[in-house]
Amino acid sequence: MTAMVIDNLHKRYVDRYTGEEIVAIGDVSFSVHEGEFVSILGPSGCGKTTVLNIVAGFIEKTRGTVTVGGTEVTAPGPDRGVVFQSHALFPWKTVLGNVTFGLRMKGMDKARREQAGRDVLELVGLSGFERKYPHELSGGMQQRLGVARVLVNEPAVMLMDEPFASIDAQTRRKLQQDLTALFELRRPTVFFVTHDIEEAVFLSDRVVVLSGRPSTVRDIVEVPLPRPRNWHAAVESTDFRTTVTRIESLLSGEEAHVGDGS
Ligand SMILES: Nc1ncnc2c1ncn2[C@@H]1O[C@H](COP(=O)(O)OP(=O)(O)O)[C@@H](O)[C@H]1O
Ligand SMILES: [Mg+2]
Repeated sequence: MTAMVIDNLHKRYVDRYTGEEIVAIGDVSFSVHEGEFVSILGPSGCGKTTVLNIVAGFIEKTRGTVTVGGTEVTAPGPDRGVVFQSHALFPWKTVLGNVTFGLRMKGMDKARREQAGRDVLELVGLSGFERKYPHELSGGMQQRLGVARVLVNEPAVMLMDEPFASIDAQTRRKLQQDLTALFELRRPTVFFVTHDIEEAVFLSDRVVVLSGRPSTVRDIVEVPLPRPRNWHAAVESTDFRTTVTRIESLLSGEEAHVGDGS
């Protein structure tokens, strides 16, 4: 089943002060299947965040269609769970309170939502921190909580915009490894934005490679790495290196467009 379809998406911004027009997205089409991990990768400023914000329903597109679960996106909704780069946690709520908030809004009873919350916290490595507050957690732990909070609601698609970009390299590696383990266990549908090629290859089933602004799809690259994945084993494999090299050449524009592989 197809979870999300983006068809001929186009976005033109008009600068509020200068009136200048910026075409951020030229023409972008791709789809994400249920239980698939798809990343969108491209140079800074090419419109990755714009694509994600349109899917989330935060901003309007200029042309094209976006459907999630067969329904056209026109506004934000609970079928799309967004993991923000900065954590957007409720500072006055405990870890468990943050995770169960969405379920509470849906009317789930306390015992069930706390059980679901504890299960997801265990999955992201936050067992034992249920009664802590966000400010008592490290940056990496806050990001885990951000993931848990979205995962617990079982959205049709999880949207992640460079969630590990502001986290130190050591912790980032661990979070990537843990996100992979969590994905392999729960199989959520994930749409992930990054400009880090190795991150995209390690995490994804497919990588949508964009050109610079106004962005178009250079190619959609299948990642041949088997699951479950482990960082050290993955990076040493020939398939990993070959895929990274292929994406590098697509990004540098050396390789001509060759079909869309979707
Ligand atoms: N609200 C806005 N008004 C005008 N231009 C914008 C706005 N938001 C983003 N842009 C421009 O659109 C382009 C794409 O931005 P963005 O989607 O954030 O790129 P990325 O996430 O790939 O770095 C950039 O040139 C950016 O300056
Ligand atoms: Mg961005």
